[in-house]
Amino acid sequence: MSLAGRIAMVTGASRGIGREIALGYARAGAHVILAARDEARLIAVASEIGELSGSADVVPLDVSDSAAVGKAIDGVVARHGRLDVLCNNAGISNARGPVAEVSPEAFAGVQAVNLVGLFACCHAALPHMIEAGYGRIVNVSSGAAIMCNPGESAYAASKAAVNALTIAMAKEVEASNVLVNAMSPGSVKTDMNPTSDVAPSEAVPTAVWLASLPDGGPTGRFYRFMLELPMLPDIDLDWSSR
Ligand SMILES: NC(=O)c1ccc[n+]([C@@H]2O[C@H](COP(=O)([O-])OP(=O)(O)OC[C@H]3O[C@@H](n4cnc5c(N)ncnc54)[C@H](OP(=O)(O)O)[C@@H]3O)[C@@H](O)[C@H]2O)c1
Repeated sequence: MSLAGRIAMVTGASRGIGREIALGYARAGAHVILAARDEARLIAVASEIGELSGSADVVPLDVSDSAAVGKAIDGVVARHGRLDVLCNNAGISNARGPVAEVSPEAFAGVQAVNLVGLFACCHAALPHMIEAGYGRIVNVSSGAAIMCNPGESAYAASKAAVNALTIAMAKEVEASNVLVNAMSPGSVKTDMNPTSDVAPSEAVPTAVWLASLPDGGPTGRFYRFMLELPMLPDIDLDWSSR
């Protein structure tokens, strides 16, 4: 699984799963564009990549600011000539609780990053990828998209929407050699999920595989450990008949 010579952007690369994916892309040979809000942490990840003899750019970015996203991605293409891989990993889960107790504003805040931020990155990257006739988009989704657990409405809705967006986008750009897939990193230990005892590096092989898919590879699909998952909840008839 080589990314030699590829220009690969990872959002939410300052820590957690995104940091691991960025290191994984660098190990596979990509020049990595590290994007997130915390510039100091991005610089630290860039220096880890340097220690691996890799190369990286630091791009401070809030993905919920769509004008900034457009400028950042145009800037990458102006500097490097193209953007081959976009890994949309930035995400938050700070509106937990029953719907009756989560404010609409808190719900919208989660969608602004997890869904609208991801859409803005794709919206900015796709024209460049289509023009180049090459692109690989890796959307970091979650098993929450298909589990839809109580107390996780904002997060589950955002990730189910990411999966639906992944399918629609994949169909739109199928003829342009742009492959768009979603992945679940599994339940791993990060600031978002501190009680897990699984290392976030578990997500890396799937993220590298999806970023390095050959032309004609799968698109519009959802994977964990490189194994396909259903994109959306399988409706339980017992539930719908209640
Ligand atoms: N951990 C798990 O068990 C798990 C399971 C399933 C799915 N996921 C998904 O995996 C992805 C990464 O999660 P994680 O567990 O690594 O979480 P994390 O440790 O909290 O890291 C989240 C990352 O997203 C960035 N981010 C947050 N808001 C942003 C914004 N507005 N603009 C740009 N970057 C932003 C953060 O950087 P800054 O704060 O520097 O901006 C950070 O780099 C998320 O999409 C999450 O939903 C995680």
